[in-house]
Amino acid sequence: MSTILHIDASIRAANNPNPNHNSISKNIAHHFIQSWKKQFAIDEYIYRDVGMNPPPFITQEWMGAAFTPEQKRSAEQQQILGLSDQLIAEIVAAELIIISSPMYNYGMPAQLKAWFDQIARVNKTFDFDLSRGDFPLQPTLSGKTLVIISSSGEFGFEKGGIREQMSHLVPHLHTVSKYLGVDKIYEIASEYQEFADDRHRQSVEHAYAKAEQLAIALSHELNHLNEPKAVAIP
Ligand SMILES: Cc1cc2nc3c(=O)[nH]c(=O)nc-3n(C[C@H](O)[C@H](O)[C@H](O)COP(=O)(O)O)c2cc1C
Repeated sequence: MSTILHIDASIRAANNPNPNHNSISKNIAHHFIQSWKKQFAIDEYIYRDVGMNPPPFITQEWMGAAFTPEQKRSAEQQQILGLSDQLIAEIVAAELIIISSPMYNYGMPAQLKAWFDQIARVNKTFDFDLSRGDFPLQPTLSGKTLVIISSSGEFGFEKGGIREQMSHLVPHLHTVSKYLGVDKIYEIASEYQEFADDRHRQSVEHAYAKAEQLAIALSHELNHLNEPKAVAIP
């Protein structure tokens, strides 16, 4: 069994009448999935385009419902948490999570942040215990792998890069990925979109190649892990 949860966050479609308007991050993520499928079938593929269909922002009522013990929730509170429950169930089911995201104003799109706000839930994706001292929050899920596919107009957001101090997309995703139960993170970045020069073309090319190599490697790893184990016959 392989279950993949794929979250796209760009407000741009993957394919537009003018291809210059196509989302780069969505197309690299698509290439990752296609490269995977050439190796192995995906048993369960869960897809969400939060860029085009953003989850609603959380509210005071949402928070009240989330902090009310499950057995005590009113029908209205259960309904308020319905989408959050569904989004969390998708994370629980997934072994591999792919998040493709543009950089907007040096961080993640509000639409993707809205998704994270919906899935960061007490007693669901984290628990809270003051006896743990200064770090009372602990994730409840584990064992998952995350692939982050990002696209930016400028460049140099990596460690040691000329814009490292302005880099709030990938570092933020690393921090909040604890709610996804992620143990391993891989990154694929396309840069220079605003320069539309050779550096951009090379960066996109490199990102596509990396997506393909990573899809091949991870598909083999996951399918090997999930192979039925040979049972020794005494
Ligand atoms: C609203 C908006 C804000 C952006 N902010 C940044 C930014 O802060 N830094 C940057 O390098 N590029 C920025 N860009 C450029 C995008 O990151 C770039 O176009 C990227 O390729 C978009 O991803 P997509 O091609 O998947 O849609 C911004 C673009 C938009 C539309």
